[in-house]
Amino acid sequence: MVLLTRFPPLAALLGTACLSHLDAVGAFQFVAEVPQSQSISIGGDYTVHLHQDKGLEVKFADHTVAASPERGAPFIRLSSSLASLTESSGNFEIVSPHLSSEGGNVVCQEQTISSFERLNLTAVRLSGGFGDHACASIRWDLDISSPAATDGLRFNVVAPNATNIHLSFHSPQSEGFLGFGESASFGNLRGLRIPIWTREGGVGRGESPVTELLNTNGTIAGTFAGGSLLTSYTAIGSFVSTKGRWGILHGSNFGIFDLASGMEGEPLVDTAEKQLQDKDDEEQRLRDRDRDNEVLTVSYEGTSLLFDLGDSSLSSPSSGDHSDRLLGKAPVTLKAITSLTKVTGRQPKLPEWTHTGAVLGIQGGQEKVEGIIREAKLYDLPVAAVWLQDWCGTRLQEGMYNISISRLWWNWEADSSLYPNWTDWVSHLETEYGVRTMSYVNTFLADVKTKSTGYKRSFYSEAKEGGRLVINSTQSEQRGEQERVGEPWRITSGPGIEAGLLDISNPTTVEWFKELVKEQLYSSARISGAMNDFGEFLSVDDGVQLSGGLVRARSFHNLYPEVWSRLMRSVVEEMSLEDRVVGFHRSASTFSARFTNLFWVGDQNVAWGPEDGLGASISSKLHMGFSGFGVSHSDVGGYTTVLAADFNVTRSLELLGRWGEVEALSSALFRTHEGNIPSVNVQAYTDEKSYRYHSFNARLFVSLADYRARLLKEYEDLGWPLVRHTAVYSDSDEDWDRIRDQSFFLGDRMFVQPVLKPRSAEDGDDDEVIVQLPRDPSGRAKSFKHIWTGNVYSAGEQVRVPAPYGRIPAFVVVVEEGIDGQNQSEGGDVFEKLWEFVEKEKDTVLEV
Ligand SMILES: *[C@@H]1O[C@H](CO)[C@@H](O)[C@H](O)[C@H]1NC(C)=O
Ligand SMILES: *[C@@H]1O[C@H](CO)[C@@H](O)[C@H](O)[C@H]1NC(C)=O
Ligand SMILES: *[C@@H]1O[C@H](CO)[C@@H](O)[C@H](O)[C@H]1NC(C)=O
Ligand SMILES: *[C@@H]1O[C@H](CO)[C@@H](O)[C@H](O)[C@H]1NC(C)=O
Ligand SMILES: *[C@@H]1O[C@H](CO)[C@@H](O)[C@H](O)[C@H]1NC(C)=O
Ligand SMILES: *[C@@H]1O[C@H](CO)[C@@H](O)[C@H](O)[C@H]1NC(C)=O
Ligand SMILES: *[C@@H]1O[C@H](CO)[C@@H](O)[C@H](O)[C@H]1NC(C)=O
Ligand SMILES: *[C@@H]1O[C@H](CO)[C@@H](O)[C@H](O)[C@H]1NC(C)=O
Repeated sequence: MVLLTRFPPLAALLGTACLSHLDAVGAFQFVAEVPQSQSISIGGDYTVHLHQDKGLEVKFADHTVAASPERGAPFIRLSSSLASLTESSGNFEIVSPHLSSEGGNVVCQEQTISSFERLNLTAVRLSGGFGDHACASIRWDLDISSPAATDGLRFNVVAPNATNIHLSFHSPQSEGFLGFGESASFGNLRGLRIPIWTREGGVGRGESPVTELLNTNGTIAGTFAGGSLLTSYTAIGSFVSTKGRWGILHGSNFGIFDLASGMEGEPLVDTAEKQLQDKDDEEQRLRDRDRDNEVLTVSYEGTSLLFDLGDSSLSSPSSGDHSDRLLGKAPVTLKAITSLTKVTGRQPKLPEWTHTGAVLGIQGGQEKVEGIIREAKLYDLPVAAVWLQDWCGTRLQEGMYNISISRLWWNWEADSSLYPNWTDWVSHLETEYGVRTMSYVNTFLADVKTKSTGYKRSFYSEAKEGGRLVINSTQSEQRGEQERVGEPWRITSGPGIEAGLLDISNPTTVEWFKELVKEQLYSSARISGAMNDFGEFLSVDDGVQLSGGLVRARSFHNLYPEVWSRLMRSVVEEMSLEDRVVGFHRSASTFSARFTNLFWVGDQNVAWGPEDGLGASISSKLHMGFSGFGVSHSDVGGYTTVLAADFNVTRSLELLGRWGEVEALSSALFRTHEGNIPSVNVQAYTDEKSYRYHSFNARLFVSLADYRARLLKEYEDLGWPLVRHTAVYSDSDEDWDRIRDQSFFLGDRMFVQPVLKPRSAEDGDDDEVIVQLPRDPSGRAKSFKHIWTGNVYSAGEQVRVPAPYGRIPAFVVVVEEGIDGQNQSEGGDVFEKLWEFVEKEKDTVLEV
């Protein structure tokens, strides 16, 4: 990395002398050669204007697509200090000086422009420097082009002496921001500063008291394991704005999006300490949002910054086929997703079998699994697959109350005691019961020396011998005559769980692991997919070495999820298993959608809340959809279970049931997880009541297969997500702020206002909830049909509907003949199975 250095005094003087000839407007200065105002066309109806009073503006015909911040403000700034990114068990604390001058951070911000010229038919170049004393010899170039391959503009800043580049745009106050990968807890993200960094999502994420427990006691799951409202499994530098703009930051280095926070001059501090001091910090900020601030700043670590920006409200993207009809009338946020995913890519198709029933997450070995499959049939629970993460064996991690936490042996072969007949048994389940099997894999390898049930091969030893693990080079030691480069970097995942991490920056290791996965997972038995876990852990501390020092951990960290998912996808493609395999990931990079046929929103707590519970699973799906990952799901019932001295977070049947209702109407695959302490959580198979509730939800999921298939096709053609923010179909800017998880659309035809809290004494016996039906300014949705009672209500109405267990408030949009190219008979077809289900279950009463 190149740090900005203080400029020698003589040159600084020369710099100042030059500046005196400049025509200066505030901090924004022009050299004499640049005319007062100049415009250059860059093709595709785009023109770049350089105004003396308004800075830079790029127009599409008469409409402004991008403009620099208000007069006098710079659009390019540089800074010299690296962000500190401290790892502990996959949790990262982030402190970035950002644009503050704290800790000797040199900020170049008195931008000057020395030339503005045409580069070629589709591009211009602006060049300049800075008037700040310390930055007088620092130069920058900004190329603005309209590449044919995208529907938008490309901004490419090059500044050879920069450590960080900051590129700013004007953003009107009413513009909201969505996306940036998994961003739980929020609807509109305006007012926040979002770090682009893949890391553990956090346990609690601000929810009390679990966040405090984990953020004060680093021995439980690593420093900052409680996380914050900003911790995310994904490193996705892209957004969609409520005005139809979309942006994509290229590259994998650390970045920050400042969404008009008004805090540019303050360091970004996202650490355990900060969370404890001021736990509601980010939410508070959002409430106190600086309504006057209109600056969107993209910050990126490096000597160049590549950013795409488009506006779908001006230029209609073209899908190039029959979908153009749909696209033409679509809300601007959906059009923006179409344009965004043309650049970032879309997820590959899901196999058809995913529609046919539940995927039951079970641990405990062949007998237990087969017993549950048989029992499920008795409760009319359709089982599409069993998902057996413990296929590789388990070990117990010490926990509170002498209750152990069940963890996996990360050694990718079937465990001889739990699954002694893995190969035959997997086939047997499919032929005997029509039930598929899914398993589990990640890029950790555990040393199995102490595995009590034995092992055939130790992949850890093989990888270590082959030099395939990430190395901690500060551990180098003298052994005999030969000096070793270092020992495997040891990752920990809570007490007693240690392993090495595969160095997939090295292509030969990628090939080696691909062969391993082909053989151990997909040849050893006819499985139908796996959880492809993790991807966030790579530390960037000194000493962490990749590819013998050729690859920088700091640049590879955010790329890890993409390389990991590409590896797994190429196994599927090379073995021609596309119609069979579901490979679900929780980590992701900006461009990894095309390698992930199913996204999973990671570990939520077995809890209700918006920060890290059922509510978070909804807001996470919404933002992933705006990030191009429109096909997703969550663990029904959540995952993280906590037993502590003063409180417990465990799963009730009510939570499992309500979560299942939400998943039935929002996920692309209906899968449970037993959680990390299965014995204290209610499971789908716990008893008659749980079987009945889960079975009901699974059948509800199946009844929507035709509708979901239509939505999946829409995703394939246009990139539109299955789950959509309510405001997508409203005309109210306030809806973007008001709603985060309280309601959503599944596609354009179903509106859902889920029950997100346990029933309490105050709720009375009537089980009624108040539902605010959306307005639809397009006039498409004139009325809404409540699926359980069949009652039809007008758009915009506030209505009371019963919501006992199994009756999640959901409404089908009644579409008028001829409007939006749709009609009742089409609608009737996709919901036919749903109406049959509703009729059949009208007397069903579920209990918890
Ligand atoms: C025009 O310049 C831009 C920016 O440098 C470049 O990306 C593009 O390839 C160039 N186009 C042609 C046709 O050379
Ligand atoms: C800027 O970078 C160039 C190329 O790396 C180098 O030659 C030059 O000395 C640097 N200038 C300053 C002021 O750091
Ligand atoms: C932190 O957690 C560990 C593991 O659960 C426990 O042994 C220890 O007592 C805790 N420390 C504090 C200060 O609470
Ligand atoms: C936990 O188990 C150990 C050994 O089995 C026993 O000595 C101890 O009393 C138990 N503690 C609790 C809280 O049950
Ligand atoms: C399953 O494995 C066990 C132990 O290896 C063996 O005794 C048994 O015969 C096997 N059963 C089948 C059906 O293959
Ligand atoms: C590398 O190993 C040394 C010595 O054991 C340890 O102090 C250091 O924390 C390790 N570095 C990382 C990044 O884990
Ligand atoms: C938490 O759960 C454990 C194990 O079931 C139980 O012994 C303990 O009393 C519970 N603690 C609280 C505070 O509810
Ligand atoms: C409605 O949909 C049906 C089935 O796709 C089609 O046959 C019919 O022509 C459509 N009617 C209108 C008015 O578009």
